Amino acid sequence: MKVEILPERQPVNNETTVIALPPDKSIFHRILIIGAMTTSKITIPISSIEEIPADVYATILALESLGVGIDVSWEKLEFQGIGIGNFKQPRHKINCANSGTTARLLMGLLAGENVTATLTGDASLSQRPMGRVADLLENFGAQIQTTEGKLPVTINRKKLHSGSSYSDISSAQMKSAAILAALHTEGTSSVSEKIRSRNHTELMLEALGEGITSDLKRTVITDFHFTAPKEFTYDIPGDPSSAAYLIAAAMILRKNIILKNMSVNQTRTKYFRRLRTSDVKITRKHLKEEFNEKRADVLIDVSEMKTIEPFLFLQEQTPTVIDEIPFLAVLAAFSRGDSIFYGAGELRKKESDRLAALVENLSNFGIDAEDRNDHLVVFTGKYNKHLPGGIVKHHNDHRIAMAMAVFALKAKEPVIIPDAEVVSVSYPNFYQDLALIAGKDRIRIS
Ligand code: S3P
Repeated sequence: MKVEILPERQPVNNETTVIALPPDKSIFHRILIIGAMTTSKITIPISSIEEIPADVYATILALESLGVGIDVSWEKLEFQGIGIGNFKQPRHKINCANSGTTARLLMGLLAGENVTATLTGDASLSQRPMGRVADLLENFGAQIQTTEGKLPVTINRKKLHSGSSYSDISSAQMKSAAILAALHTEGTSSVSEKIRSRNHTELMLEALGEGITSDLKRTVITDFHFTAPKEFTYDIPGDPSSAAYLIAAAMILRKNIILKNMSVNQTRTKYFRRLRTSDVKITRKHLKEEFNEKRADVLIDVSEMKTIEPFLFLQEQTPTVIDEIPFLAVLAAFSRGDSIFYGAGELRKKESDRLAALVENLSNFGIDAEDRNDHLVVFTGKYNKHLPGGIVKHHNDHRIAMAMAVFALKAKEPVIIPDAEVVSVSYPNFYQDLALIAGKDRIRIS
């Protein structure tokens, strides 16, 4: 699929655009994996089968090969949890495709199950670090072989013991793998990290079971067991990381939007505070909490925004917006000063080397940006310049494609995104939703 973004001919209309977001990918993986560890029958409503992020299919297929039958229909997913300790020996290697969350969470789950399994992935996932997860799981006695720290990874059958793990890398995937492993242990285990990453695993386990408590940096697990009802429905809120790209579009086109039923989990919405400095008004309506996860309709009102303010992210702040850096870098390109993101080295370990990819694309489209070891600098003063068109090089990374699609809304010539379907990893309807903001005539999908 090719997407072409055409230059603006007339300003957008001033009606507020209402958007239904894709379900949050992080929470989706977790309700499938953690749900499979319960003995409950779980229903997940969806508005259409087409909105399921491709990464989530990797988890669905993996769980099926481990003995969890998941029925996917147009309006819902249904499955019966099989319980901790009951996962079946898979007959083949498990292919995690492009999904880091699938691979890493499964490493934690399978470390303590009565199976020996090998995980593989696509070319991009096969380049990403897995040794650090294996090392963390060793604290609980796990026996895992990686291939020089990467996939394929074999998780051997092993009875785990209680233990403590600590990571100075802020990574929810690593932390969650350790927590899932610790659920298989007797006695007390603890999992801590230097800077708190997203906390969906902790919140979900606290909602569905007993024997787990967590604070800002540490989770303690003591003889955990599930107490969830026999049957329940889990409504997954909209993805705030996907929403960020639409918010950037709304800001640069000066259009108000409402994002329906969006996750407003604090560990995911740290970027709100940064946008407020540009006088973007962010209001939550119909705030609800289900299974400890807050969600709301979020109104983004840009009517009082005059300029986009530049960003300064310190070393310890960058991990809290790790999936949002590409969109912040695009906003930085249109801001009134230079922006700097310290401590962005982990971006090199994502679906592509995002630091390099952002600098390459921004530079190709007329913005000065530098990749300085582990920090990213975006220079400004260019936004009045003639921004040329061209071809986006997304390196098969959904967030780079989305970021550059938003950037293209300000280009003065057409911008082409080849293999544009890469966005379906997290946001299958991205271009259609972007067109709701920018206007259908500006986004050609072929
Ligand atoms: C995720 C955690 C983050 C994030 C990824 C999803 C998760 O990765 O980038 O998109 O669901 O736990 P890290 O844990 O590697 O930072």
